[in-house]
Amino acid sequence: MRLGATIPNFSANTTQGEIKFHQWQGDSWCILFSHPADFTPVCTTELGRIAVHDHEFKKRGVKVIAHSCDKLKSHSDWVKDIKSYCLDIRGDFPYPIIADETRELAVRLDMIDEDNKDNEAEAMTVRALYIIGPDHKLRLSMLYPASTGRNVDEILRVIDSLQLTDRLKVIATPANWTPGTKVMILPHVKDEDLPKLFPKGVDKVSMPSGITYVRTTTDY
Ligand code: BEZ
Repeated sequence: MRLGATIPNFSANTTQGEIKFHQWQGDSWCILFSHPADFTPVCTTELGRIAVHDHEFKKRGVKVIAHSCDKLKSHSDWVKDIKSYCLDIRGDFPYPIIADETRELAVRLDMIDEDNKDNEAEAMTVRALYIIGPDHKLRLSMLYPASTGRNVDEILRVIDSLQLTDRLKVIATPANWTPGTKVMILPHVKDEDLPKLFPKGVDKVSMPSGITYVRTTTDY
């Protein structure tokens, strides 16, 4: 699915009841992350670590929903395993898991091609993580292979970047940025506007090309 596309208002059965996606999401941010099957080892750790950090998502106004290509009953049994493996999950399992046994939703969300829907080997690649804005539009997508577990710190970091750059449309965050460290000022911002926008200062980096396109600040 391309960035900026609207996530369809799909209906789904989840471990927390039936939902219509847009109504369930409301005007919050959302992460929707998918799994090819229940009782898979790497996915178990991902669902667990995201559950442990649920308060970090709540703090940022982000609703969490998982998706897995299995039945609801299997999801409920898997949740017991996840809780047993990740003993630091506090209280009830915090977010719903969508049951998509037929993989029809995975096709609709462009996580697998229609032609491969019933191909068990290809279906193992249903491992997308979508960050969805309050307007139901796809803002960022991560595709991970089965070999490699997702990193919760990275998910939170990119959410922080998206929310910051929505608030301050004159900046972008550089490689390896973390909150509080320097950000890049966008090329369309005129030099004469910098003192008003960033009164605590801007660093204009001189480059061999002589072009002053790297302007940074920590004033945000
Ligand atoms: C997993 O370990 O989570 C996994 C294994 C095979 C395919 C997909 C995921």
